[in-house]
Amino acid sequence: MRITIVGCGSRGSKLAQAADEMMEVKRIYLVDSDKERAEQVAAGLKKAELVEDVEEELYHCDLVIECATQDAAREVIPKVVARGVDIMVMSVGALVDDEFRESITEKAKQCEAKVYIPSGAICGTDGLRASTVGEIESVELITTKPPVSFEGVKYIQDKGIDLKSIKEKTILYTGPAREAVQLFPRNVNVAATVSIMGIGFDKTMVTIAADPNIKINSHELKIKGEFGEMTTHTYNVPSPINPKTSNLSVFSAISALQRIVKSQWIGI
Ligand SMILES: NC(=O)c1ccc[n+]([C@@H]2O[C@H](COP(=O)([O-])OP(=O)(O)OC[C@H]3O[C@@H](n4cnc5c(N)ncnc54)[C@H](O)[C@@H]3O)[C@@H](O)[C@H]2O)c1
Repeated sequence: MRITIVGCGSRGSKLAQAADEMMEVKRIYLVDSDKERAEQVAAGLKKAELVEDVEEELYHCDLVIECATQDAAREVIPKVVARGVDIMVMSVGALVDDEFRESITEKAKQCEAKVYIPSGAICGTDGLRASTVGEIESVELITTKPPVSFEGVKYIQDKGIDLKSIKEKTILYTGPAREAVQLFPRNVNVAATVSIMGIGFDKTMVTIAADPNIKINSHELKIKGEFGEMTTHTYNVPSPINPKTSNLSVFSAISALQRIVKSQWIGI
């Protein structure tokens, strides 16, 4: 398999290193708007080659992995799926826009391309996926982070919330995922993944809380439906390469790549 990685930052470089060790991966094409960064990553790999643009080697490529930015995702996904090439999307926030998401879903179907979205920093997406086959009463995501994580968030400033004065777990926001991802853009990936897999951005409810007694981020997923009830609680250790995100989200992308290259769908 030949893969192209768009974006060689904290996630892309880890994925490239993992892919380099996978015997099924024969070639890794690296694209980054910061060429020096791509060169640095390529220098540490056995199978990598730099390309200027995702389209350069698309004829020879079986899978593109987007791990750059939402803008890059909006540019790259349509080009890739239109050529019938599969793509794994990390900047899931790009898919919040219904029109864009529906257009690429349709294009991918027409051109027989697959769009993969890893589960990321949350557990329970397997149950969520299965539960939507029946009736769903509610899907709720509760994200809790230390108060410092919300510094600079406009919504917090506009509400006049003093993060330093928070002494116990405090709810900052509860509402539909569509609004939550706009007000808390740093939480977009988990909320978007849960919404897309489940009952959509308008019905998925998101609660954002600050807790001064924790040092790590946690995501609670609660689902009620025809199947019964499910709660998962994920306590994430921050990634040493980028403390703003979690180890699990990096692991999830690597494990998704392993499943794709081996075509192994256990627990699908
Ligand atoms: N789905 C998840 O679970 C999850 C979790 C964390 C982060 N993310 C998302 O993954 C993406 C990458 O995260 P990261 O931590 O690796 O970011 P990063 O900032 O470390 O790296 C991004 C890289 O992309 C490059 N880049 C930017 N625009 C580009 C373009 N148009 N073409 C090519 N390269 C471009 C940058 O130069 C940089 O090297 C972000 O959008 C982030 O929100 C997803």
